[in-house]
Amino acid sequence: MCGIVAYIGHKEAYPIIIKGLKRLEYRGYDSAGIAISNNGALSVYKKQGKVSNLEALIAQESVQGTAGIGHTRWATHGEPNDINAHPHYSSDGKIALIHNGIIENYDAIKKELINKGYSFRSETDTEVLVHLVDDISKVEGVWYGEALRIALNHVVGAYAIVAISPDFPDRLVAARKSSPLVVGIGENGEYFCASDASPIVEYTKNVVYMEDEEIAVIDRKEGLKLYNIGDQPKTPYIQKLELELEALEKGGYEHFMLKEIHEQPRSIHDCFRGRLNAEKGWISLGGIRDYEQKMIQANRLIIVACGTSWHAGLVGEYLLEDLARINVEVEYASEFRYRNPIIHENDVVIAISQSGETADTLAALELAKSKGATILGICNVVGSSISRITDAGYYTHAGPEIGVASTKAFTAQVTILTLMALQLAHKKGTISQSRFHELLSELEAIPEKVKQILAKNDHVESISKAYKDASNALYLGRGSSFPVALEGALKLKEISYIHAEGYPAAEMKHGPIALIDENMPVFVIATQGNSYEKVVSNIQEVKARKGKIIAIVTEGDTHVKAMADHVIEIPAADEVLVPLLATVPLQLLSYFIAVMRGCNVDQPRNLAKSVTVE
Ligand code: F6R
Repeated sequence: MCGIVAYIGHKEAYPIIIKGLKRLEYRGYDSAGIAISNNGALSVYKKQGKVSNLEALIAQESVQGTAGIGHTRWATHGEPNDINAHPHYSSDGKIALIHNGIIENYDAIKKELINKGYSFRSETDTEVLVHLVDDISKVEGVWYGEALRIALNHVVGAYAIVAISPDFPDRLVAARKSSPLVVGIGENGEYFCASDASPIVEYTKNVVYMEDEEIAVIDRKEGLKLYNIGDQPKTPYIQKLELELEALEKGGYEHFMLKEIHEQPRSIHDCFRGRLNAEKGWISLGGIRDYEQKMIQANRLIIVACGTSWHAGLVGEYLLEDLARINVEVEYASEFRYRNPIIHENDVVIAISQSGETADTLAALELAKSKGATILGICNVVGSSISRITDAGYYTHAGPEIGVASTKAFTAQVTILTLMALQLAHKKGTISQSRFHELLSELEAIPEKVKQILAKNDHVESISKAYKDASNALYLGRGSSFPVALEGALKLKEISYIHAEGYPAAEMKHGPIALIDENMPVFVIATQGNSYEKVVSNIQEVKARKGKIIAIVTEGDTHVKAMADHVIEIPAADEVLVPLLATVPLQLLSYFIAVMRGCNVDQPRNLAKSVTVE
């Protein structure tokens, strides 16, 4: 949610910053802007819309300078236009800054500044901050970095900030609270700052993940210095990035989303690599080994998450309750954090988050921690805020997910939850040894089965043609296929803008059935298992109202095939593992439908990948 990038060194800053903004565009694409410092002045360019609009604006200019900042915006305060775009700068043009987050008390500060004679160009909360820094700098007679530190002591909210001033040509100042910020350390006084490591990895693998309420003074002559906002110096902890540049490229696919869907055999495999050995019959989840007993004895496991990650949590609930017989509750993080939930010390709260930065999920964890619960995390992004505040956790190892719609992260989260459920069930003795072994072998075979589904790419594409003009769609499933139905509906609505709803199949009769007519596509997960016959009855109910059935069935199924308008077969698997397979054709269907409708599948309107505001 907003991407920020900055550079200071000995190369031209503009190309590095523009490239960085393109890598961060998944975080917001309402507007983009840069400020470059050169010869005692700042050149600021801002443009509504994508980074390419900004590039077009600057194409005829000669932007020079070896220090600069850039921003790609997901609008919170003020509509997406050129004026509200970042960077924002002081009236004398001597301080500019970029910001990801929200200044909650901006209104009160703005009124004070207006009383002092400051005038505002934009409607943003960020502009308030830049005038506040300017004011403190002038009133207190301090340099802008110190003024920023003082200003942040007055600010309520979340921020990742980088500020620049042409009066201090060798310096950038960065600060963070609740929004992510990474500093990259290059060679010979070259430094990078960004919301995540993707703009940095091309230049250096040495990074410092900033902590909450830290300020970094980055000076190409004097090096990187870290302080807390109380001005006490801190020692930067330099880490090595494991990210590879190729993971950030499309690799020949038309869209990142398609690439990421097709990566799933590998990402699921990477997720259990080293954690599962079916032949020898063990699971080893190093990250949470010390907490296994606690989980087994816990009052409840509470899973907190948002969006797709919440759907993964629902699949986890089925798995953990069914296999390990542990009481699980799955909560929307945004609801949990504000409804005064009952949390006991012997509750274990597990956050699921691809980005590891989702503001509501982070806040839900902080709340649980403050009440004494054990907090665990399932995250994809290494070094993310959630992974750092949890007592322990798992990385999903799905690799960078750049398409805004989550695909491979979901199946990786479900893989981790499956491993967790199996391990706890095994320890607790709630499944037999033979079933444990059988499920381990089945899990190990999942990547190959996903490959077989992906080979049906063209078949799914041809089915998609029939539904590309739909206005509504229903998704039905039972048991652990119900969250898969929810996920299928979310994928369709977020990238194709077709209104879609997911329901437990039997719930259809309690309202949604009224929507069914000959124009309504109904996607049904009708694989072999305990509720197969019941789902078949639900399909008949839809057919009786002339709805169109697109069924995900187990290979060889002839019964549903005879009733459905279209079927997509998936390889047979134990019911417990069906979500990992049934999700894949639904992802492909959404992808193709959205492409056929001419939608930007990687950057759907109004969305951003990393939701760092509540
Ligand atoms: C949908 C999607 C979102 C995210 C949600 C949580 O495709 O990607 O619903 O799942 O914003 O994000 P994370 O998992 O990063 O906490």
